[in-house]
Amino acid sequence: MRIKNLTLTNFRNYEKETFAFDGGLNVLFGKNAQGKTNCAEAVFFLCTGTSLRIKRDAQLIRRGAEEARLSALAESRYGELSLEAVITERGKQLFVNGSKVAKTVDWIGNVNSVFFSPGELRLIQDGPDERRRFLDISISQTSKTYYTALLRYRKILEQRNVLLKERDVSVVLETLPVWDEQLCRYGAIIGKARKEYVDRLAPHAREAHAFLTDGEEELFVGAERKYEGSEEEIAASLYREMQERYERDMRLGFTTIGPHRDDLDILIGGMDAKQFASQGQTRTAALSIKLAEVEIFKELSGEPPVLILDDVMSELDLPRRKKLVRKVEGLQTILTCTHAERVLYGKECRKIQIRGGRIV
Ligand SMILES: Nc1ncnc2c1ncn2[C@@H]1O[C@H](COP(=O)(O)OP(=O)(O)O)[C@@H](O)[C@H]1O
Ligand SMILES: [Mg+2]
Repeated sequence: MRIKNLTLTNFRNYEKETFAFDGGLNVLFGKNAQGKTNCAEAVFFLCTGTSLRIKRDAQLIRRGAEEARLSALAESRYGELSLEAVITERGKQLFVNGSKVAKTVDWIGNVNSVFFSPGELRLIQDGPDERRRFLDISISQTSKTYYTALLRYRKILEQRNVLLKERDVSVVLETLPVWDEQLCRYGAIIGKARKEYVDRLAPHAREAHAFLTDGEEELFVGAERKYEGSEEEIAASLYREMQERYERDMRLGFTTIGPHRDDLDILIGGMDAKQFASQGQTRTAALSIKLAEVEIFKELSGEPPVLILDDVMSELDLPRRKKLVRKVEGLQTILTCTHAERVLYGKECRKIQIRGGRIV
């Protein structure tokens, strides 16, 4: 998959600009605060319908403008695809080949994308919600079933949590089983899919890590072990566990078990990365997981995703930078940095200089 060109209108600090991307390595370079990350973000937004940096889509609209517009011509093995997103204060509208897409779920998967930036270190350093978010965004890109289950799960969970705060205990006890039956059904889909995804991811992550570190340390990634068995079995055991926690959940006023509380194990050299990894180890592990994500997209969709590397080169030492450039060969990569010549080592690429929201 690749993006051939991208036009941004009133998006972040871009008034109007068109990027023509190469199928291989594209280097966006320029000083700080010129719009490199904004362009990377736009590519990711067109691929996934979401951005990792925002709470509200409207933040993407250029200050003072009414609406932002992103349009791109993409190519996959099924042919060319025109993608367009229009963002207003009221929300976003998405169009594929000119037809409006009713739900984001029907948009996802047109072009898969993997995004890596220094912020992704949170994947390892921060709490479990960062790791769940990684799984959710990644799995959703190749599974509409997952994405839909996730939306339903969140909605029911919200209602369940409201119910838990209800004073009349008999009402709560009467209604909980009704919610829980559904909650556990969607929870099982989510838990099982995450487990399968992580089982698939782990060997690729280990391999990428061995490549980047010359096999000095081993990276282990593992999912929650409780999601073994069929969806029905998982749902049933989740239901039992929920029932056991009725009292506690009611006392606390929220749901204390389920996929929204799960975590991912990440170990480097047998040690919990979150607690023990150095900055450098964390960076390499996070990058390895992202490179593993690339491999999974290749496996699941039969095509490489678009890889976005925002500002990561300056944080890697020279040998790792060189290895990374080698590793991404054959992928369409959008890479941002301040000094193009420092990262390329004579590799062929398209260089695009950015200044003040314009291509120089
Ligand atoms: N909605 C917006 N409207 C106008 N300018 C914006 C908006 N959002 C961000 N910017 C501007 O974009 C610039 C940052 O761009 P960014 O792509 O993050 O820089 P860099 O080139 O360092 O990656 C800042 O000057 C910021 O003020
Ligand atoms: Mg930046």
